[in-house]
Order: sequence, then C-alpha cells, then structure tokens
Amino acid sequence: MRPGGLDRRAFVAASLALAGCGPVARGQSPQALPPLKSVAPFPVGTAVQAAQLDDPAFAALVVRQVSQLTPEWELKMEYVAQPDGGYRFDAPDKIAAFASAHGQRLFGHTLVWYAQKPDVFVALEGPAFRQAFAAYIAAVVGRYRGRAVGWDVVNEAVAEDGAGWRTSLWSERLGDFEHMRLAFELAHQADPDATLFLNDYNLETNPLKRATFMALAERLLKSGAPLGGLGTQTHVAADIKPGAIKAALEDLASLGLKVRVSEMDVSLARAPELPSPSVDLLGQQGRAYAEAAYVFAKLPAARRADFTFWGLKDSQSWLRRENGADAPLLFDDDGAPKPAASAWEDAVRA
Ligand code: G3I
Repeated sequence: MRPGGLDRRAFVAASLALAGCGPVARGQSPQALPPLKSVAPFPVGTAVQAAQLDDPAFAALVVRQVSQLTPEWELKMEYVAQPDGGYRFDAPDKIAAFASAHGQRLFGHTLVWYAQKPDVFVALEGPAFRQAFAAYIAAVVGRYRGRAVGWDVVNEAVAEDGAGWRTSLWSERLGDFEHMRLAFELAHQADPDATLFLNDYNLETNPLKRATFMALAERLLKSGAPLGGLGTQTHVAADIKPGAIKAALEDLASLGLKVRVSEMDVSLARAPELPSPSVDLLGQQGRAYAEAAYVFAKLPAARRADFTFWGLKDSQSWLRRENGADAPLLFDDDGAPKPAASAWEDAVRA
C-alpha cells in the first residue's frame, strides 16, 4: 500500500496531477478542469458569504464547481441574533435564494457553538433562557425548512485536548449534555427532513478528540436524539501525516451514520514542520486533498453526505487573516485551478 494507505492507482493519479501531467497545471483557466461536482458521485460544497456572490466571476465559479452552499458565518448567532431578541436573515436568505436559483443545496451552519454567545442570551436565565434557545432554533431551522438539507446542530463540543466536552453558555444554562440533546430535538421538530450533524475539528490529528467525539455521538443516539451524521471539518496543514485523514474518515464512518467533510482546507503556512525546505508544499497540499477525496469516495454511498471546502479561492480563506501568504484552497486568488484541484478530482475518480 502506498503512503497513507492509498492504493497505487490513487497515488499515481494524484502524483501525475501534481506533476502537471493532469488536465490542469497551476494557473490554467477554470474551463480546463472539469467542474468538481461533475466528477463526484456525491454533493460537493463550499462556504460562501452573501457579498461574495455579487462578484459575477466568483458567482460563475460557484455555479460551475459546486452543488451545495454553506453560509460561512451569516447563519450563525453572531449574524442572526439581534440585541432586541429579533433575528436578521437578509444575508442567509440571499445565499439560499442563490442556491435555489442554481439548483444547489443549502447546508445550515451552525446552531449551537461555544464560540458564539450573544448578549441577548447572556442576559437570560432559567425558563426564559430555555424559551429563547428553543425559539431561536425553531425560527432559524424553520425558516429554511425544505431548503436546507442538513444542519450542524452542535459545533465543536469536544474540548481542545479531546479530554471531555467544552463548557459554554449553553452548557452552563441548560446542562452539559442536555443542551446538546435538546438542540437536536428542537431542530428535528423544526425540520423533520433535515439531516442533523455533530461537527468538530482536529479529528484527523487528535485520536483522543475523535474518540471523545464519537462517544458523544453514541450517547446522543442512546438518548434518542435525532443525530443523523458526523461532520469532520478537516482544517489540516500540508504536513499532515499521510493516512491520518483516511483513519479519521473510516473511523467516523464505522458508527453507521452519514459522514461529511464539512470545511476542508489545507494550510501551507501552518505546515512549518515539513521534512525539508525543498519539499513541494503544493505537492503536499495536493496529496492531502487526494487522500481525503479518495477515501471519502470509497465510503459506502449511504454514508457520504457531502464534501465541502471552506471556500474556493485562496483570497477568500479565513486563513489569510492569520497569514496573508497562505494558499489553502483549490483555486488561486484569480479563481484558476491549482494542482490540488486536479489531484482531488483524479483521486475521486481513481
Ligand atoms: O463582514 C463583516 C464586516 O462587515 C465587519 O466590519 C467585520 C467586523 O465586525 O465583521 C465581518 O464579518 C466577519 C466575517 O467572518 C466575514 O469576514 C465576522 O466578524 C467574523 O466573525 C467571521 O468569522 C468567521 C468565523 O467562523 C466566526 O464566525 C469566519 O469567516 C469563518 O471562516 C469561521 O468559520 C469557522 C467555522 O464556522 C467553524 N469551524 C472553524 C471555521 C474557521 O474558524
């Protein structure tokens, strides 16, 4: 078996692509590469922001490449929850309208996240808090009923080191486990047809975190929570150990729920530990994308929810705020496909 457990065909396909022998060398036109969604037997998505869709060239790239959209931040409490207790939906409505106009699916991200605790909730306690929590989930999920195919109901519940769960406003007010069980129950009541996910990160690089994540999923199932799937964000660095992504995806799929790669990007800047300065960073990046693509495509069809990138163009990546030179995505600042895009496509087809 090749490094990372990829079989020879996939490894050769990815290597050829990265050597520029694939259909696209760096910087060629988007038309030179078949659309990502056209080569995948599963939905392919990207995170977007409403204002980005006003750029005709980017809108065309989104329509050509993907079949599913996730609001990058405008369907989170930080955008939707207003200080007066009301809600703001103009931006997610715009993304939802764009998706339906172009026959694309919408994915809801995210309902309950430790990182978001609007003052309007902090000010409440007891029954009033629970009522506001229930009203928020009902209003947000209900608004996109029949349009959102799924939701990240609880995001990043597991502690950074993997030993237990995070505490949050939500856990403090409603209970460590109960707040999560309740969120799934409320989301299901608001849209019984949406698939409801538990989502987290570093599941590839922290086996303890992955084990705690999976144990939480099993506890939710045992409690009767309508958990339908597991999301692994897959924000990784180019120096990720070959095989780590494969191990995580196969482990997560073993629970028998749907699995989604929910936010993939492969940072170059966060990969200082590459074996030697001469290592081809773009090659390492393509290899990581290829491993995820190959293993995800080989999962049973019933387990594959979608494969979502956390953006399409490098210039729009959240990672650019950390390092202005990072280039973590499949398309460069001009929207041209990079070698990793070919590597991903060749590995999906391998
Ligand atoms: O666009 C507004 C701008 O008009 C305003 O002036 C400025 C200051 O308030 O805010 C800008 O919005 C920011 C938005 O990103 C767009 O850049 C928000 O403040 C900022 O909070 C938001 O950050 C997002 C972050 O989640 C928090 O929601 C990132 O874009 C987004 O990539 C990141 O995504 C997370 C996933 O949800 C969960 N997994 C990790 C991932 C990366 O951190």
